[in-house]
Amino acid sequence: KIVPVIMAGGKGTRLWPLSRASAPKQFLEFLGETTLFQRTLARVSDTARYEPAVVITNSDFRFLVAEQARTAGVSLASILLEPVARNTAPALAAAATVVARKYGEDALIQVLASDHEINADSTYFSCIDKAAVAARAGRLVTFGITPNEPATGYGYIEIGEDLGNGANAVRRFVEKPGRDKAVEMLAAGGYLWNSGMFMLPVGLFLRELQQYAPEVLAAAQEAVDKAHHDLDFERLDEAAFTRAPDISIDYAIFEKTPIAAVVPSPISWSDLGSWDSVWKIGQRDEAGNVADGSTTVLDTRNSLIISRDIHVAVQGLDDIAVVASEDAVYVGRLEDSQNVGKLVKQLASLP
Ligand code: GDD
Ligand code: MG
Repeated sequence: KIVPVIMAGGKGTRLWPLSRASAPKQFLEFLGETTLFQRTLARVSDTARYEPAVVITNSDFRFLVAEQARTAGVSLASILLEPVARNTAPALAAAATVVARKYGEDALIQVLASDHEINADSTYFSCIDKAAVAARAGRLVTFGITPNEPATGYGYIEIGEDLGNGANAVRRFVEKPGRDKAVEMLAAGGYLWNSGMFMLPVGLFLRELQQYAPEVLAAAQEAVDKAHHDLDFERLDEAAFTRAPDISIDYAIFEKTPIAAVVPSPISWSDLGSWDSVWKIGQRDEAGNVADGSTTVLDTRNSLIISRDIHVAVQGLDDIAVVASEDAVYVGRLEDSQNVGKLVKQLASLP
């Protein structure tokens, strides 16, 4: 069976001010009655296919994870807690270490992000099966999505040789290219977006970490060795984990490893990463506006207006995002959605 590893430690800053330091986007009821994290749990709930999930998150979110798993009726194998945020490479190095010790080096892990909207239909599960086959044959497998615009918030995968059974080698992996490079790759063709979901033979994954990110692995392994149990949680050792470099798995491993493969996946997938992606999957009216909550909108086109608590009126503006929460308002161009995180760094003193 496959061991699901769910990454739920992101801060979701680009969706400020709805996504907050105390409750990032994956824990919000986004476009549905359950949270994105709960919908992620549901995708790995088939016990014929999956072992109980391992969740890796920041210590700050431990009660959100435990409570949302409980209300979803899901029992987890473990909840690993990071004492500090070091991005996804150290988080996955720690989770993989835990899985390898429990299930052995031959275990397969499926890494899931908790900020995706995915339709888990039969096409989706057939892609999962193909990825499992390629992973068992010795590959670190990603799922590739057909790009439809030169987005700069994703990894780009150049498709290599056919490996059979629905998988291809990865010729090149470019994480979050600049605009010009993204336009170039889209025009050239033969590229897919990295979905941010992976199927990994755990022993091989640890070997590639040893090869390409030894400091990440050493810090994560020591943090696991010295972890301590606290209620329902496994707290990774703070001194050790803090030594891990801050780097994502995409830069640390996928841009470097020669054993990556991609399963081109014609699935319904969306990373709810920034306001432009929320606008894209939202219900647009004739003027191209997505309005949610208490809003009045006039002479405005192709804009996103969300307000939960106060009334927001927008007039005479195009291509913008206006998002109001109880105590903060964001206004910006939709095309600048990737930069909201920079703004949030500046106001990091707010809750
Ligand atoms: N445990 C833990 N710790 N989880 C984290 C951390 C961390 O420090 N940082 C982020 N995560 C979680 C997020 O909650 C999310 O579920 C997932 O890891 C991915 O992180 P993002 O920060 O959302 O990454 P991204 O969207 O910018 O980029 C990744 O996903 C894209 C597709 O959605 C990359 O893999 C790209 O290559 C990919 O295209
Ligand atoms: Mg994301």
